[in-house]
Amino acid sequence: MTAKKDHLSALAGASLEKRIEELALFSDTPDCLTRLTLGPAHRRAADEVASWMREAGMSVHIDATGSVVGRYETGSPSKTLLVGSHIDTVRNAGRYDGAYGVIAAIAAVHTLNRNKRRLPFAIEVIAFADEEGVRFPSALSSSRAVAGSFDPACLDDRDAQGTSRGDALRTFGCDPSAIDQLARDPASILGYLELHIEQGPVLQAKNLACGAVTAINGATRGEIFLEGYAGHAGTLPMDMRRDALAAAAEIILKIEETARNTAGLVATVGRIETPGGAVNIVPGRVIMSLDLRSPDDISRAAALGSIRKQIADISVKRNIQARLDVSYDMAAAPCDTQLQNMIKTSMTCSGLPSFSLPSGAGHDGLSFRGRIPIGMIFIRCRDGVSHNPAEYSSPADMETGARLLHETILTLGGHP
Ligand code: HGY
Ligand code: MN
Ligand code: MN
Repeated sequence: MTAKKDHLSALAGASLEKRIEELALFSDTPDCLTRLTLGPAHRRAADEVASWMREAGMSVHIDATGSVVGRYETGSPSKTLLVGSHIDTVRNAGRYDGAYGVIAAIAAVHTLNRNKRRLPFAIEVIAFADEEGVRFPSALSSSRAVAGSFDPACLDDRDAQGTSRGDALRTFGCDPSAIDQLARDPASILGYLELHIEQGPVLQAKNLACGAVTAINGATRGEIFLEGYAGHAGTLPMDMRRDALAAAAEIILKIEETARNTAGLVATVGRIETPGGAVNIVPGRVIMSLDLRSPDDISRAAALGSIRKQIADISVKRNIQARLDVSYDMAAAPCDTQLQNMIKTSMTCSGLPSFSLPSGAGHDGLSFRGRIPIGMIFIRCRDGVSHNPAEYSSPADMETGARLLHETILTLGGHP
């Protein structure tokens, strides 16, 4: 029947892939996908996503942190189910990270609306504005605002051009003073559901299209500042140097060694700068990033302590000044058991093996830890590649995930 078939077309892989392509066009750079939070591309993408939400039958607004919020009403006043992901990206990003979860959530509501389904709860689809935390030092600011844990100090965070988050919000058309009103009463929220690519190799290795997420790893992010002394590369004898970059190299290898020797811990120095550096100058200054992740918060804290000590020891040996500033620290977030069971029931009903796995990547769900039940669904992505233009999930797997999300929402609404 055309109508019935058409009602499901929003969840079809081809429809989802088309939206992925459309959203990927909104980039701050012409040669690759970069859509940093609150930038011009994010602004245009937010308007496009808002139009998709309206088309799906939702009332739409952009909140004070720049997130796009679409609301699908229920028949009677009751709780609200939050379903979402993020539309900001890293630099030189893949097209699926974040975008897929938002597009699939809109498709699920579009399908409910076309099938005239009213559930015993309202649904809010949220395209979060700042999950990646790439433009500004701290991350998750928009979901933390919804969770009620927004830190106003982050309004003074500055990007590489010196623009503060507060000014970026005002340029985006937001009023930062209204952010504290975004906090939701947990009693009014049924839960937070997010569909996302795995960004890892497990589902592909198991030859599975999707999985239920058990927990989201905790994360620490920081900046390491090393101060030596700039000197002439040709005249300064090796034993008189205070080379900040050589010290950084030794520290980076020690950080890697710590992670290799600690079960479950991953550590990355993803960015390094030598301000004022040149080929013929002994580096005097280094600024580099630190990213630590683990499912175990105690182990992650112990690793941070060990890294601080290693930095101190190397700095004394090399006569370097060193400082490590932590800009972000989020505890690991277990996913809600009931939501996990609902997702696995929906998998079984859909003829899918009910497989579970943890998330090594961070997600907006971290913000809801201990306040709002979290449920996450992963779909397979090719070779586990992410934060890379080669990131890819097939239309078939995207459709499986989107239908599973739709099914899970129906299960939550008492429509098995
Ligand atoms: O860094 C992360 O894990 C996420 O992609 N923001
Ligand atoms: Mn993501
Ligand atoms: Mn990401």
